[in-house]
Amino acid sequence: MTPPPTGSALRANSNAARDIASVLHPYTDLQVHQTVGPMVMTRGEGVRVWDDGGKEYIEAVAGLWCAALGFNNERLVQAAAAQMRKLPFYHGFTAKSHEPLIELSEMLLARAPVPMSKAFFANSGSEANDSAVKMVWYFNNALGRTSKKKIIGRMKGYHGITVAAASITGLVNNHRAFDVPLPGFIHTMCPHFYHGALPGETEEAFATRCADELEKLILAEGPETVAAMWAEPIMGAGGVILPPRGYFPKIQAVLRKYDVLFVADEVICGFGRTGNYWGSQTLDIEPDILTCAKALSSSYLPISGVLVNERVFQGLAAQSHEIGTFGHGYTYSGHPVAAAVAVETLKIYDEIGIVDHVRAVGPHLQSELRRRFADHPLVGEVRGTGLIAAVELVADKQAHANFDPKAKVGARLAKLGEEHGVISRALPSDVLAFSPPLVIMAEEVDELLNRFSRALDQLTVELRRESIAVVA
Ligand SMILES: Cc1ncc(COP(=O)(O)O)c(C=O)c1O
Repeated sequence: MTPPPTGSALRANSNAARDIASVLHPYTDLQVHQTVGPMVMTRGEGVRVWDDGGKEYIEAVAGLWCAALGFNNERLVQAAAAQMRKLPFYHGFTAKSHEPLIELSEMLLARAPVPMSKAFFANSGSEANDSAVKMVWYFNNALGRTSKKKIIGRMKGYHGITVAAASITGLVNNHRAFDVPLPGFIHTMCPHFYHGALPGETEEAFATRCADELEKLILAEGPETVAAMWAEPIMGAGGVILPPRGYFPKIQAVLRKYDVLFVADEVICGFGRTGNYWGSQTLDIEPDILTCAKALSSSYLPISGVLVNERVFQGLAAQSHEIGTFGHGYTYSGHPVAAAVAVETLKIYDEIGIVDHVRAVGPHLQSELRRRFADHPLVGEVRGTGLIAAVELVADKQAHANFDPKAKVGARLAKLGEEHGVISRALPSDVLAFSPPLVIMAEEVDELLNRFSRALDQLTVELRRESIAVVA
């Protein structure tokens, strides 16, 4: 039996007590939650949010890397209200359509990093990736390649948690006890130079080794059985991991050799986050299929997209014609209200020049993070580009050795950060992630980092006192 909640925050009928009694939380230790309770948010403004005790925080991860336009964009509210009044629901099944669906499709195709043919919509990043898996299988069936079905993900890659997306994901806690990955989903090595490079190996040589490993995997499985590879341009939830220089062109050369499709998961990297409209442009990727979500609507409403190139579309079209229908789609695929909000979001990005803004503020975040923290005794690596970054804590700076996971050092730092008024995200291996709303200004970056710095100072004192870290 879990002990009953304690503490003033958990008074009977408080939000916290009601939450504990009723909510099953994603990504939470459900048992601990029964005693500790939630942080209940009540409102937001710009890059800031407030909890139900009136405490203010800078949201340094834009919620879940997603509220790109901050927390009170009135135009998005108006776009939703106007669409709700006009046509609150319609769908795209059996050749039905509506204006927001058409306009959003056109806008995404016009902005795609490489020529794309058609856009499909779902409600979450996970669903977009699951949809793309099914499209890849359908495509290969159309070509008569009925055994070319295996999907390659990467260790530490994150693509969501529906059954297929979780199978592509390469993170232990998304697999353990959930009986995934499914058969036919395999993983290649994580391209993290800081941890993965051999002594004396250059970034270029490491990238070549990653591509060689991929080729070995494809050959071992049999190229006639491998359908597609998934990758985030920059890995997000796995630890904000940037690939070594030259990585993706080398990876894509291998995939082309064996006619394996490439799916770019732009769920975090899309819409300016990395300093280009798409992470694919920053990292030199030419995808056959692209999935996106999150900043697509600044996350004001759930919507995700799958863009397919002409070759893939022709396969889908031929197969659907043979069967008589493309038997895939969600009730809410391209929901008119979500689509209208996404259209408005993309218009705002154009009007405020979101990419130029990230190019102006991103370097400030990156250089300040490095200037303030790279030499800190607890910090192993500061990494990132544009407005996505991370600080990785280590027990041994020389050996690049992480702390014992049981010490939960990263989670402690995130908690201390919250006490000091900054919400960051603790990822596996004590990585603290930053991915603020894209509209953040330089002064707000400074304030965010001041707060984080105070939290890191406090953690340093505590770890020294507890003899967890030997800090000079
Ligand atoms: C790269 C990437 N792909 C897919 C997903 C899954 O998206 P969702 O949580 O909307 O299902 C996420 C979520 O964080 C993500 O970061």
